[in-house]
Amino acid sequence: MPKIHVVVSQKGGVGKTTLAVNIAAIVSDVLGGNPEQPPVLVASIDPQASAVWWAERGDPDALPFDFDQLDDRPEEVAKLGDLHEYQHIFVDAPGSLARPTVLARALDVATDAIVPVIPEPLAYGPTERTVLDLIQPRDLPYRIVRNLWDRRDGHLDLDALTDWLDEQKLRYTNTIVRRYKMHTTAAAEGRVVTQYPNGRTATEARNDFLALALELGYGGTVA
Ligand SMILES: Nc1ncnc2c1ncn2[C@@H]1O[C@H](COP(=O)(O)OP(=O)(O)O)[C@@H](O)[C@H]1O
Ligand SMILES: [Mg+2]
Repeated sequence: MPKIHVVVSQKGGVGKTTLAVNIAAIVSDVLGGNPEQPPVLVASIDPQASAVWWAERGDPDALPFDFDQLDDRPEEVAKLGDLHEYQHIFVDAPGSLARPTVLARALDVATDAIVPVIPEPLAYGPTERTVLDLIQPRDLPYRIVRNLWDRRDGHLDLDALTDWLDEQKLRYTNTIVRRYKMHTTAAAEGRVVTQYPNGRTATEARNDFLALALELGYGGTVA
């Protein structure tokens, strides 16, 4: 059975699509296998579908995972667990409460949820509501991921976010995904972290996703 990870937050622009496609790329790369049949699927349930746009830029076959747009197909989302050809499925959720039915189906079949958050007070409320309203009622394991931290901004906003997460007793990853302009540029060109050019910045930018995939336990097991 594939493991199904829903990347979800009621707030837009926090990095759901960025995390979904880049963790998917790393996991697919690490697990390897036949390029004709990648071990990872990214399923977008966002009707605005920035991820479709990812898949259509450049050469879609160049992406290291399969891609499917399922925002208007809740019955297919409910059956994602039947797709035994995949080891991991990442579901890229919409930023608002658009498509509540399809999002509910995805959360019903999910193995876990990933909730990106950014170090801005306006993101706190929607993050908490996402966990309280959508995740905890299902007893779904989850981790919040602190994204878009810019080291040049210093630690103040990041520390404020971390203190708030601790106060609310919300669970978050040790790994922080830093802001790199390269991620924004790559999105515009339909590239994922495993396709970044060689170089120090690209390596650092990619490392955040490697660390995240490792911390979340998506890299395979010795059974
Ligand atoms: N760590 C990051 N570094 C740089 N840009 C980022 C990072 N995370 C997200 N972005 C950019 O921020 C914007 C919003 O991210 P996106 O993944 O589309 O959010 P969402 O899917 O939650 O709406 C996009 O332009 C994306 O490229
Ligand atoms: Mg998105």
